[in-house]
Amino acid sequence: MSHPDAVRQYLEFYKDLGIKELYRRTAVVPAVAAVAPVAVAAPPVPVVTPPAIVQPPPIVESLITLPPLEPENDTLDAIRKDIGPDCKRCRLCEQRNKIVFGSGNENAKLVFVGEGPGADEDAQGLPFVGRAGQLLTQMIEGTASKEGIAIKRPDVYICNVVKCRPPENRTPLPDEMEICGQYLFRQLMVIKPKAICALGSTAAKAVLGTKEGVTKLRGNWQKWRDIPVMVTYHPSYLLRPYNQNAKREAWEDLKKVLHFVYD
Ligand code: URA
Repeated sequence: MSHPDAVRQYLEFYKDLGIKELYRRTAVVPAVAAVAPVAVAAPPVPVVTPPAIVQPPPIVESLITLPPLEPENDTLDAIRKDIGPDCKRCRLCEQRNKIVFGSGNENAKLVFVGEGPGADEDAQGLPFVGRAGQLLTQMIEGTASKEGIAIKRPDVYICNVVKCRPPENRTPLPDEMEICGQYLFRQLMVIKPKAICALGSTAAKAVLGTKEGVTKLRGNWQKWRDIPVMVTYHPSYLLRPYNQNAKREAWEDLKKVLHFVYD
């Protein structure tokens, strides 16, 4: 192979990888090395010319800079702007009406993380405003009041793993969670709450990176970075009449969280 052909092949190789700009750090390594002919024992075996061996590509460095995961002086406003008014980073944009960023106290000591918006949230652009949301409000305010803790729903922050409604309320897919999860992590880093309450298995999976189910995780403190995380049942699960035991457990979890955060 001629030298220009080898160079072209390298460039195409990197282009296929998505790397468009390259620079050369040192002199180019000769692309094709001549190989000594193989010694031939005796006729009539024909002399075989070994194929030319292509050297590995020279060391190159990509000039592509990825956006930092933790921008300096990040704010909730900056995250909202980065998502943009018409995010099309994943397929969930196709059927959503409104992006549901999150709501509540931006300096909250406690953040609740749900799975993703439902129909009511998609229509209003606010998290947990439907039936599950009403139950969540009741759980927060009812438990706080019973325990003598003076907080209301607007004192905490509430958001979701994915910011757009999955069609038919299906569970978000791994790539959707991954793409939108970066914004959730930025929200958590900006707010830096004293504790996080992950509602249901999707939130637990996104925050803790675990495949363990809620039943196993709930009731015990876990950690995201240095922040204590309590996993508990999702309010939608608690709305089903056959899950009444779980309701009692969720109340116990919430009691633990509220005392830890506000005592
Ligand atoms: N369920 C969720 O997980 N999030 C919402 O915002 C509403 C329902």
